[in-house]
Amino acid sequence: MQEAVQLGDLEDRLDAARSILVLTGSGISAESGLPTFRGVGGLWRTHRVEELASAAGFERDPVLVWTWYNERRLAHRAVEPSAAHVALAKIEQNAADFTLATQNVDSLHLRAGSRNVLELHGKLREAKCTRCDARRPFDDALDLNALEHACGGMWRPDIVWFGETLPADVLEAAFEAAGRADLMLVIGTSGMVRPAASLATKAVTQAYVVEINPEETALTAHVDRSIRARASDVLPHLVT
Ligand code: OAD
Repeated sequence: MQEAVQLGDLEDRLDAARSILVLTGSGISAESGLPTFRGVGGLWRTHRVEELASAAGFERDPVLVWTWYNERRLAHRAVEPSAAHVALAKIEQNAADFTLATQNVDSLHLRAGSRNVLELHGKLREAKCTRCDARRPFDDALDLNALEHACGGMWRPDIVWFGETLPADVLEAAFEAAGRADLMLVIGTSGMVRPAASLATKAVTQAYVVEINPEETALTAHVDRSIRARASDVLPHLVT
């Protein structure tokens, strides 16, 4: 039989917190059935990052890149938010000041009902033009014969690729939230990608930082407490 997860004083800390920041990564969406990036079966173990997630790769072969993002978008739409996503939305409802900064582009936090969501790495539910400010919803697979925008640019997913900077307004809001948080939860991220991971470091936040992850991560040494468990084994127990 599985041992119950020890929450310790986490419930009390949550009740007492004046300002909460949650940082999530692909591990929380693993609960919905989506692959992570670096874990077993992770996307970056079986796919070439530089081909699929860089502006240079897109310039070389936009059809290959779009074929992959079409598949990923359809996969996102085919799954449901997990109990962990839903629990975070409920925690937000009871909190005075709550920010959810996610590295995920799958929209599952919004679909679960979270409101104050900062999508650090963008969102796959929209495409944007490489040349002008045009945007369009990306709900159904994009027609691979219609990748050009009228202005002469190309449609690309509205996500942050390697070598690109994060949206400035989103990043600024995330750092502000880290600055005022007194409790921070870091859930389902390996902490390998900056600047997102730096939100949880003492140089950025004075908050009490709790990591929820079945495995040790690059952030473990920086956090105040690590709960070695899956997100859905912890978060639903924090909401009444
Ligand atoms: P990673 O694949 O690097 O890490 C996933 C983490 O989730 C690992 O630490 C796992 O142990 C943990 N995990 C797995 N299942 C879990 C569960 N059920 N509950 C809690 N944790 C679980 O993914 P990210 O940290 O999200 O960027 O990767 C960060 C960024 O790297 C992504 O946003 C993406 C990628 O390149 C871009 O595409 C820009």
